Amino acid sequence: GFTPRVFSGIQPSGGLTLGNYLGAMKRFVEMQNAGVYECIYCIVDLHAITVWQEPQALRRATRELCAGYIAVGIDPERSILFNQCQVAGHAQLAWIFNCVARLGWMQRMTQFKDKAGKNAQNASLGLFAYPTLMAADILLYHATHVPVGEDQKQHLELTRDIAAKFNHDYGVEFFPLPEPVIEGAATRVMSLRDGTKKMSKSDPSDMSRINLTDDADTIALKIRKARTDPDPLPESPEGLEGRPEARNLVNIYAALADKSVAEVLAEFGGKQFSEFKPALAELAVTHLSPISKRMAELMQDQAEIDRILARGADRAEEIAAPILRKTYEIVGL
Ligand code: ADP
Ligand code: NA
Repeated sequence: GFTPRVFSGIQPSGGLTLGNYLGAMKRFVEMQNAGVYECIYCIVDLHAITVWQEPQALRRATRELCAGYIAVGIDPERSILFNQCQVAGHAQLAWIFNCVARLGWMQRMTQFKDKAGKNAQNASLGLFAYPTLMAADILLYHATHVPVGEDQKQHLELTRDIAAKFNHDYGVEFFPLPEPVIEGAATRVMSLRDGTKKMSKSDPSDMSRINLTDDADTIALKIRKARTDPDPLPESPEGLEGRPEARNLVNIYAALADKSVAEVLAEFGGKQFSEFKPALAELAVTHLSPISKRMAELMQDQAEIDRILARGADRAEEIAAPILRKTYEIVGL
């Protein structure tokens, strides 16, 4: 058996969104507080540079993401919180996995197709190889559980395929097959402007997302302007069928309030969005304003953030080093 160990990461490629919070970070905190897992949370800067990042902005986003993790409730003593580039084993194991994964597997990854867009020939090779680096992130620690949003499901399946092929090819039971943890009412938070696209920190339109650092007025404005249809809210979850924008706002409400969608509709069914939206805005502000306040405080002391990350990297390295050494030995390197 493997030690119950959680690994997950977030890219420092812009400010944190409500999608990151509800789809991933809320679960990170719950799993830390469950007390049954050793939790490792990473700022995945090597993933961020698969698309162009301004160096100054990347450095700032890295520190801000560290502050964000702490502000939502990650305790850097209880969990290991660190920056990917500071543990060299991620890139080293990723190379080995580049030699395990098959080209055909990689070509099926839908996130690459979405992110590379029409001009895929001009995407970086790193963007294409992103999922093997992600497999390395997880397996470098023999992690058994990976809390993520719905969009990462296919990458987790690839991680399991890589672990299984490595074990099979070398005749070992060395890597665990990690379990995705995709839970809650908002595992896929959608853009506020387009109910078919996920909310993302890299979307060019700031009105499409709620950032964890948005002030109360901005949150209220973005929710007021969010796209909806003209009908009132339905009385039950089945009534959200074919209404992606309505479903998204109800899911967000449910996730923030820790209620089921049915409970939310029991309260708001039959009411207009003009009544629901202010209630949602108030709930979002209540949740997010203490987080943004704490982030701003933490950002006052950047030297302390750098110390936290350096210490996290040391602790991560301690777990990673023997696993990487053993991997090299198995491969014959
Ligand atoms: P982004 O897509 O905002 O750049 P990342 O790729 O850094 O975010 O993802 C960090 C975590 O947040 C992942 O677990 C991802 O699944 C989750 N996540 C990102 N966007 C959303 C969303 N819109 N809804 C739910 N979870 C999300
Ligand atoms: Na993503």
